[in-house]
Amino acid sequence: MTNTINNRKLEHLRAIANDPDVERYATGFDSIQLCHRALPDIDFDAIDTRVPFLGKTLSFPLLVSSMTGGDSAEIVRINRNLASAAEHCGVAMAVGSQRVMFGTSAARESFELRHLAPNAPLLSNLGAVQLNLGFGIEECQEAVDILQADGLYLHLNPLQEAVQPEGDRNFANLKQHIADVVQNLRVPVLLKEVGSGMSKADIISGITAGVRHFDVAGRGGTSWSRIEYHRTNDIGDDLGLQFQDWGLTTVQSLREATSCCETHAPDAVLIASGGLRTGIDMAKAIILGAHMCGIAAPLLYAAQESSEAAVAKIESLKRAFTTAMFLLGCANCSELRGNTSLLYS
Ligand SMILES: Cc1cc2nc3c(=O)[nH]c(=O)nc-3n(C[C@H](O)[C@H](O)[C@H](O)COP(=O)(O)O)c2cc1C
Repeated sequence: MTNTINNRKLEHLRAIANDPDVERYATGFDSIQLCHRALPDIDFDAIDTRVPFLGKTLSFPLLVSSMTGGDSAEIVRINRNLASAAEHCGVAMAVGSQRVMFGTSAARESFELRHLAPNAPLLSNLGAVQLNLGFGIEECQEAVDILQADGLYLHLNPLQEAVQPEGDRNFANLKQHIADVVQNLRVPVLLKEVGSGMSKADIISGITAGVRHFDVAGRGGTSWSRIEYHRTNDIGDDLGLQFQDWGLTTVQSLREATSCCETHAPDAVLIASGGLRTGIDMAKAIILGAHMCGIAAPLLYAAQESSEAAVAKIESLKRAFTTAMFLLGCANCSELRGNTSLLYS
């Protein structure tokens, strides 16, 4: 079973490399226009992009989204390159699903990253559905401990599981299991989708379970349904293609989450991810209410090359993000976040 998980991770990388249409370019950010300031009245060099996250301070609000883990040399190298780059740039990093390490002990190495990123917030990752399949607080704590993580992502991926021939599809009663983990884990639990977005009802379920960190992971970037389509052996099975654009876009999901949290959990931390590709997308996401922005696929390509390439990619995102702040007249992220007067309408 675990070898299957290892192979699956490599098959995902191949599908992404071989099919450019896995990237959907439909997040909703393109239709958002911002109020350019011709007289910004601030000094570019004094702009403060720093933000707090999980008790640490980041150089700007970027999280390397959950991607990978396993025992292949390629995967170990990707995770190490991402961890070194996150540390160098002062941003956060999440690892991909750690389920694999519970059956293949050789995969544990890919999650031993703390020595490469002593200061960066690091986040563990498990599929929430595993809580219906024998995983409990012990496995969650073990996933956190190996990474010496600052938090645990539980991912919700019902579409991906539905399309996978070998998918785990029993999502019944997960809310109670999530609540148990929230209550007993020594670090915060973050709830995320993987590219189809979260609705208001999902956020309310999470809040009821005690979760206070949400990553909407909306539609419009990497399509997991399309990736899984490439893994079916049955030529007539086009379910993954039919659902490749299913879900709430990142912008729609972020708007839902923001208004829901304003009412029900003003202390909640929101992460925008799913198809964010530029520092301008990041600025728009923060204006819509996100505290943090997650980016996955573009950082994967860079990390496949080297940690220097990942650093260069992160620095170029930061440069564009800072430029957007300058052109909006925002001297720090508090002036940007939730400031809808910056939206042109
Ligand atoms: C190669 C790859 C592997 C991923 N693996 C995981 C995973 O194991 N767990 C998870 O929660 N999300 C996983 N994701 C989803 C991302 O974390 C993110 O939610 C989604 O891809 C949207 O981000 P993007 O459009 O910037 O790629 C993966 C994404 C990529 C590109």
